[in-house]
Amino acid sequence: MIIAETIAQVREVIAGVRASGKTIGCVPTMGGLHEGHLSLLRRCRAECDFAVVTIFVNPTQFGPGEDLESYPRTFEADRAACEEIGVDLIFAPSVKEMYGEENLSWVNVEKISSHLCGASRPHFFRGVCTVVAKLFNIVTPDIAYFGQKDAQQLAVIRRMAADLNFFVEIRSCPTVREADGLALSSRNQYLDADQRRQAVCLSRALERARQLVASGETNPGAVIAAMKEIIARESQGRIDYISIVDNELLQPVARIDRPVLIALAVHLGTARLIDNITAAPAKK
Ligand code: PAF
Repeated sequence: MIIAETIAQVREVIAGVRASGKTIGCVPTMGGLHEGHLSLLRRCRAECDFAVVTIFVNPTQFGPGEDLESYPRTFEADRAACEEIGVDLIFAPSVKEMYGEENLSWVNVEKISSHLCGASRPHFFRGVCTVVAKLFNIVTPDIAYFGQKDAQQLAVIRRMAADLNFFVEIRSCPTVREADGLALSSRNQYLDADQRRQAVCLSRALERARQLVASGETNPGAVIAAMKEIIARESQGRIDYISIVDNELLQPVARIDRPVLIALAVHLGTARLIDNITAAPAKK
């Protein structure tokens, strides 16, 4: 397994891989790899000839007062996990390598980025899209893998890749959950034991929403009210948002009469947890 810290190193390796006609897969990460990431890595390994993992805690997607400093940095454990899965190349650049002295060019995806997580983290998708565009240009993957857990990020990146004609296929992988339903996230480690117990309220609220929609509830307000009730009853969490949106542009729907994305973000202690499901209305 090659570990590259510079763009020049990656370009040299990739040129050789391309020359031999191999397909290249890429899993962009910020490290702190958990089973959710590992499921992406395994799929990339199985589906592509040459598997690249990028590990870069991207400062431009963190806002003032967010957890950039405390974000888990576990390079040795990440390296060992990549090795075990059979990753071919880890790209782990410095901030200077990625952004130089001053970065003046940014990628914004309008409309899809502005609500849900974009409303409370207005800098976030600009940072994500810019770094992912850079990584696509450096690694030039045929296929890139992202988790459904970050459904808005996935939709924004798909749109960016389509609008900017990146020659890459975006593949999504299902959310990996703990036995009690909590979606895996690097930020789960900010939870103490009591908060960890309460955190299951996110997936429980989503499950309730799925049942309501499947049994014929078409009013988004009623579904959201039921979800709020579960979160208030089972946790001390502070809701950032609960939204029911269409699957493409992620705009709030007035009526649940087609498959929708139900997404939420909840603050528990210092952690801000997100989760989502897709739900389809009962067939008539
Ligand atoms: O999902 C993440 O870990 C990050 O947002 C990503 C896509 C690697 C960009 O920094």
